[in-house]
Amino acid sequence: MFRSHTCGELRLADAGKSVTLAGWVQRVRKMGGMTFVDLRDRYGITQLVFNAEVNAELCERANRLGREYVVQATGAVSERSSKNANIPTGDVEIIVSELNVLNAAQTPPFTIEDNTDGGDDLRMKYRYLDLRRNAVRKNLELRHRMTMEVRRYLDSKGFLEVETPMLIGSTPEGARDFVVPSRMNPGQFYALPQSPQTLKQLLMVSGFDRYFQIVKCFRDEDLRADRQPEFTQIDCEMSFVEQEDIIRTFEGMAKHLFKELRGVELAEPFLRMPWADAMKYYGSDKPDLRFGMKFVELMDVMKGSGFSVFDNAAYIGGICAEGAANYTRKQLDQLTEFVKRPQIGAKGMVYARIEADGTVKSSVDKFYSQETLQKMKEAFGAKPGDLILILSGDDAMKTRKQLCELRLEMGNRLGLRDKNKFACLWVVDFPMFEWSEEEGRLMAMHHPFTHPKDEDIPLLDTNPAAVRADAYDMVVNGVEVGGGSIRIHDSALQEKMFEILGFTPEKAQEQFGFLMNAFKFGAPPHGGLAYGLDRWVSLFAGLDSIRDCIAFPKNNSGRDVMLDAPGCLDQKQLDELHLKVDIEG
Ligand code: AMO
Repeated sequence: MFRSHTCGELRLADAGKSVTLAGWVQRVRKMGGMTFVDLRDRYGITQLVFNAEVNAELCERANRLGREYVVQATGAVSERSSKNANIPTGDVEIIVSELNVLNAAQTPPFTIEDNTDGGDDLRMKYRYLDLRRNAVRKNLELRHRMTMEVRRYLDSKGFLEVETPMLIGSTPEGARDFVVPSRMNPGQFYALPQSPQTLKQLLMVSGFDRYFQIVKCFRDEDLRADRQPEFTQIDCEMSFVEQEDIIRTFEGMAKHLFKELRGVELAEPFLRMPWADAMKYYGSDKPDLRFGMKFVELMDVMKGSGFSVFDNAAYIGGICAEGAANYTRKQLDQLTEFVKRPQIGAKGMVYARIEADGTVKSSVDKFYSQETLQKMKEAFGAKPGDLILILSGDDAMKTRKQLCELRLEMGNRLGLRDKNKFACLWVVDFPMFEWSEEEGRLMAMHHPFTHPKDEDIPLLDTNPAAVRADAYDMVVNGVEVGGGSIRIHDSALQEKMFEILGFTPEKAQEQFGFLMNAFKFGAPPHGGLAYGLDRWVSLFAGLDSIRDCIAFPKNNSGRDVMLDAPGCLDQKQLDELHLKVDIEG
């Protein structure tokens, strides 16, 4: 027997037992004639004790152990005289009688402790060592529990897990594809799925009316804290359903996960907010509703008083930060600098403090009477001690997005974005299309298979830009954790959609013929959704980046620094694939 117990298992009740443990040496301490070794495995840490007076040779061997050596130790469990209340095994220690070094280790490049001295790059390069740390290991344990619960929940609702291929053709989810050359089909390429979207729709045609898959998806897009080039979806699809059925089923799953993984009971139905309201009041299709500061529009109140910036604006709006009137000039300057950063792009910021007596003191006092400023105060429902921050601009949507950044920044500064508080909502009624400057045409906002709202179908011919979709996103704490839609199951409507999206019938047939043809063989009404597993786990774990809940993530340039990938191919491989590499320099 290699080990009788793990390093996290022994308690006072085990005192007197003879046990064998195996693990890594966390640290070695010498105190007089005694040597203490903290032995670690993924379950915890147990203290090993060696006494030079009892066995000098054994104690000497313990003294020579280095950090991260892999050892096996046999001995008796004994009550500790100085107990350690910080760890579950802290009441006991092992009086070692046999020590076996299973493997020596080089000194690790950073200390494997909760507060490591290793920087990000180093930890990523030696990710297998980073994964020995509690903080990172716990995230993977949470991820495991999450997928177990997802499977349990969906299985109980009759969902069937079906795998779909990784080597497929292009799937349009709005990002670039990662492609794989085919040796057997010279000059041709597979694309890795951006999602199994079209395949799960085909499974509906096949009659698998409740499908799910925990599946890797690949998107070649710019990376951010909540984006990885390969990430995992909990991908789901259902037949014979309406939007309401899907929302109910997956809200149920979200509540189940909150309860099982975070012990949070969410009794109330999640708020549903039309996309247009989300944009109008929060400047975002994923509003963080852990706090208020809803936008107030001020065109009626503030325009036409001789302040040219506002007089020429297409949008004037602001937020009211409760109790922040004591912000200093310096803090306000910092906020102005914040909104003027190129990534945000506002030209400036106007502020107004509500004084103790109710008067309003603003940075644009000379243009406005106190009466107008009082009207503004009322528009916000502001009280003495509050701070009002206002942005304006010549493009309403752009200005709202800038105001959204300011709102989130104020939320951070005022400590309102508590990671232990959860605000969940559905954003519904997304626009069907969005205009792409780059492409010079309408693009599907969700994807081209999304069903328009029935009442908006006539607008497809007259004003497609105004058509809303049966599409919905779930948002938690300002993070889009999932999204989906009711799909078109009628090939004529699908053809029309492709036409509006600028596909010629030939091009549509070439790219999506397989789906449109399948729909001619009896496609049931269907719809679905995909949750972003990485985002859920990082939300539950309170992480700032999804990277920390992925065993081997990529960095911001899409590189795996541990494997040093991507890399070059040797000429033989290129030849086999009929590829020529043509890079300048
Ligand atoms: P969508 O593109 O909205 O929908 O993706 C669904 C969810 O996947 C997560 N997600 C990501 N997570 C990490 N890194 C990324 N690069 C990334 N991109 C997306 C998000 C998102 O909400 N086929 C449709 C779903 C459907 O209609 O059923 C789809 O893929 O949490």
